[in-house]
Amino acid sequence: MQGKHLILIGFMGTGKSLIGRLLSERMELLVTDTDQEVERESGMLIPEIFAQEGEEGFRNREKRILANVLQREPQIITTGGGIVLLPENVHLMQKKGWVVALDATEEELIRRLSRDRSRPLLTGDVTEKVRRIKKERQGLYDFAHFKQDTTHNSPSKTAENIWRQWK
Ligand code: S3P
Repeated sequence: MQGKHLILIGFMGTGKSLIGRLLSERMELLVTDTDQEVERESGMLIPEIFAQEGEEGFRNREKRILANVLQREPQIITTGGGIVLLPENVHLMQKKGWVVALDATEEELIRRLSRDRSRPLLTGDVTEKVRRIKKERQGLYDFAHFKQDTTHNSPSKTAENIWRQWK
């Protein structure tokens, strides 16, 4: 897969950032996380961006960062769960990367996401929000070249599976 980025997409809580870091160590490739880049560039935390600029403001920033990172040397890119909402992001990722979609059962996602309350889209009733957003995004991650369910596998096992497929 020479010359392409390895891009991890998937719903919130599927383990993209952690698995991206494991792959980065294993493959000795740089890893860039679009959420982190958005925060670095704006000097704000994601909840602050949502509060001040709304979801639209965040999506604009995310889109700009993705296009920018995709122009860099081939590397591992981990993304926010909503990166697939803009068709232009999907086209760019398909063109410039080998895309891996991570998933987990709804029950498992709710369990993981209930422990971490930092996401602006999941304030209030996490169960209800996860169910609703998961339904809204049904099919949007399906364009990936390779898929991994993380419900039962450890992050290192998932990273290993991805690495084997990539080689
Ligand atoms: C979002 C996912 C978050 C972050 C933002 C919006 C989403 O990233 O980009 O809170 O719309 O799914 P993670 O998938 O890393 O939680």
